[in-house]
Amino acid sequence: MTPLTRRQLLALGAAGAGAAAAGGAGLWWTSGGGEALGRGRELVQPEVLAGRDGVLDLALGAAPARVRIGARAANVQAFNGSLPGPTLRVRAGDTIRVAMRNGLEEPTNLHVHGLHVSPVGNGDNPFVSIDPGQTFDYEFVLPEGHPPGTYWYHPHRHGHVADQLAAGLYGVIVVEDPDPVPAARERVMVVSDITLDGSGRPAEVSAPERIMGREGETVLVNGQVRPEATAAPGERELWRVVNACPARFLRLRLDGQDLRVLGRDVGRLREPEDVTEVVLAPGNRVELLVDAREGTSTLVAAPVDRGRTDGMMGGGMPGDGRGNDEPIELLSLEVSGTPVGPAGPVPAGPAPRDLRGERIAAGRTLDFAMGMGMGGRRGPGTMMSFTIDGEQFDAARTDQQVAVGSVEEWTLTNSGPMDHPVHLHVWPMQLVADGGRDLTEPTWLDVVNVPAFGQVTVRVAFDDFPGRTVYHCHILDHEDLGMMGTVEAR
Ligand code: C2O
Ligand code: CU
Ligand code: CU
Repeated sequence: MTPLTRRQLLALGAAGAGAAAAGGAGLWWTSGGGEALGRGRELVQPEVLAGRDGVLDLALGAAPARVRIGARAANVQAFNGSLPGPTLRVRAGDTIRVAMRNGLEEPTNLHVHGLHVSPVGNGDNPFVSIDPGQTFDYEFVLPEGHPPGTYWYHPHRHGHVADQLAAGLYGVIVVEDPDPVPAARERVMVVSDITLDGSGRPAEVSAPERIMGREGETVLVNGQVRPEATAAPGERELWRVVNACPARFLRLRLDGQDLRVLGRDVGRLREPEDVTEVVLAPGNRVELLVDAREGTSTLVAAPVDRGRTDGMMGGGMPGDGRGNDEPIELLSLEVSGTPVGPAGPVPAGPAPRDLRGERIAAGRTLDFAMGMGMGGRRGPGTMMSFTIDGEQFDAARTDQQVAVGSVEEWTLTNSGPMDHPVHLHVWPMQLVADGGRDLTEPTWLDVVNVPAFGQVTVRVAFDDFPGRTVYHCHILDHEDLGMMGTVEAR
């Protein structure tokens, strides 16, 4: 038998992808092609649902789904049957209406991570709980002037968040840029990780894994194992990368290509920034510009040291329990064919707001800690407690009260041996002090890593949206174990 050429492999991959899109999971099973070869499969884009005339109306079902992961049949949980769920594309000023149906056997709900929308009622309300079999109608109203960018959605029912994310429940939200960057194409890339047991279900997670923050043994891009993308030399691509892993940090590299950051989490940078690598904590996103150069490059996730629980568990538990010290190959990019002319210049982004020049109404310090304790609500097997200012999450307690219209400075401290990527709902954070990091340009994020035994300082403009919401560690096992607090703006 003659070995297949790379081109033939790619062609087979594309055929497999088309079949999947046309026929759903059933056809995908039997389509063989590139799938049977294990790799050489073209990166698939999730289905796109775009707003029209200011409204995007959709039904989203969270339910068990049978999908193919690499060479294996898997029983996962997914939005509308696919990993990831559909990509929602909207504009500033749009309204997104979601009829969210819970087809799972556990309670769930929906969170629109990073969107600056109201947290009350049927808005981005993390206190809603949807029972199995029930439907809840959400409405998210994006203000005029909402920053463009790559956001995402996932369940947020306390106690189940990490499990549901790890099982496959995530999807992307794109807020269109009113002044788009010229590009030959853009791609959404949702990075997730999963461990399947012998029957193809998400594996049970032990108490120590929850404490460390689980890392799945298979790392996926758009639900695929090491897919391939192709481009012609000179083409510009815009990659919207989401770290949807419950706990894994990603140090992304794409050697052999020029990589520029167009934006992180919210909005976009004034000027794209040249980088050789970019680190995404869980929940972070990055928009990358790739001006393709001939050759084959591999997008890898190199290891990140996010601390360990040594000395706290008696015996120690390294963060790299699963051989995390090798770079993981996420995707390969093949650039070949007839070169095309260079893409047009990147228009400058608007000057970002800088809270360093604004009046600060209040300052607070929040301490993120882990320690031996009664483990609380999560139940048996957990003797480690995860706290903020010494308290585990209590939905009925208001931890911080802030004034609508004020700017505050929050110092986030970490008195423990593991990093905690801290996320605040509704209002983005401007980093104002973060070790040696260069913060000359205003730096806005919605997940900020607070390193082990370290601290960072952020400023937050509580401009609008009275209401109550949450902040928490985005190592979602830590969040489920209690590392979440509530904030009310009024
Ligand atoms: Cu990505 Cu509170 O969530
Ligand atoms: Cu969020
Ligand atoms: Cu944490």
